[in-house]
Amino acid sequence: MSLRDVRIVVNDRELRVEPGITIAAALLNAGVQDFRTSVTGAPRAALCGMGVCFECRVTVDDVAQQRACLIAVRDGMRVRTGGEHA
Ligand code: FES
Repeated sequence: MSLRDVRIVVNDRELRVEPGITIAAALLNAGVQDFRTSVTGAPRAALCGMGVCFECRVTVDDVAQQRACLIAVRDGMRVRTGGEHA
């Protein structure tokens, strides 16, 4: 497998990303800044990068509240960001 051989779909947009990176890394590399929305409406994104802060929660393959910094990308994975209170 070579660089950018993994295809994921983020909010209906296909991205080709490097194998083995986390969803958080893939999103940040693609310029995504709003992983979720806080209760006050503020955009939130990865902060600690190690599974502690829960700021990076996204929906992965229809499963909500997944920490993007802890999950490696898989070919065909579908990611939703910007979820309210996600
Ligand atoms: S960035 Fe802190 S839990 Fe994912």
